[in-house]
Amino acid sequence: MSTRPRTAGKLPLTDLAEMKKRGERIVMVTAYDFPSGRLADAAGIDLVLVGDSAAMTVLGHDSTVPATMEDMLLLARAAARGALRPLVVADMPFGSFQVSDEEAVRNAVRFVKEAGADAVKVEGAGPTLSRVLALTGAGIPVMGHIGLTPQSATMLGGYKAQGRTASKARELLDDALALEAAGCFSLVLECVPAPVAERITQALAVPTIGIGSGAGCDGQVLVFHDLLGLYEGRAPRFVKRYADLAAEIRVALERYAADVRAGVFPEDAHTYAIAENELTRFEADLASRART
Ligand code: KIV
Repeated sequence: MSTRPRTAGKLPLTDLAEMKKRGERIVMVTAYDFPSGRLADAAGIDLVLVGDSAAMTVLGHDSTVPATMEDMLLLARAAARGALRPLVVADMPFGSFQVSDEEAVRNAVRFVKEAGADAVKVEGAGPTLSRVLALTGAGIPVMGHIGLTPQSATMLGGYKAQGRTASKARELLDDALALEAAGCFSLVLECVPAPVAERITQALAVPTIGIGSGAGCDGQVLVFHDLLGLYEGRAPRFVKRYADLAAEIRVALERYAADVRAGVFPEDAHTYAIAENELTRFEADLASRART
């Protein structure tokens, strides 16, 4: 596999707030391995999220909850090798930051030191605020995530839009302001009504990255597999599919299988030659072995 071309020079984290000021939209996509990180880089994406959505998209679980630190470190390490210019944000999996500030810092340090992540993302507000303070205090940039927070989907009553009443919208705004005050450099707003997300975006100095939260956010994030149509089945309503790669891949695999079964792959062009005299000597060796 070719490793070129790709861009060099990391996007400075401080540029994100400048982009917000200039009204320049920020583009984020998830990536979970070297090729997806490299492709995101080559496409000029600003932020790569090694999301715990990997538990579902690449590990085959039913939710994000089973993702472990070891799973996420492996995936983040590979994605970071490919994503040189984009800032790489590693998602802290369920259980890696809920227990204590100390454990959150210990695990986040692993993402930075062992995987080459530039920042981490944590879900929620409330108890998460002290984690944000501890992490930023340790010098680790933190992205917040409010609205639909999949790690606590059960408590939220399922995968549903959040902030759909005035009081819930106000709670979200308060959470956003508290996370900003605690030091988050950016916030993901997931499945928040567009007008609410827009008001929150206007109230913050740090950029918001929306998913299912409308065009009023400072940037957008989509899951790699969703936007590329890398699996069959229904995607959430906020997903725009830019390709149907699952269908293309299936057709390619079926053609490959048919070629192998029909004996038409490999062709001469896919094989390596041996000099005629070497082949003659090899055959002579074989013949003499057969005689003994
Ligand atoms: O894990 C993930 O991919 C995410 C995005 C949906 C924001 O958290």
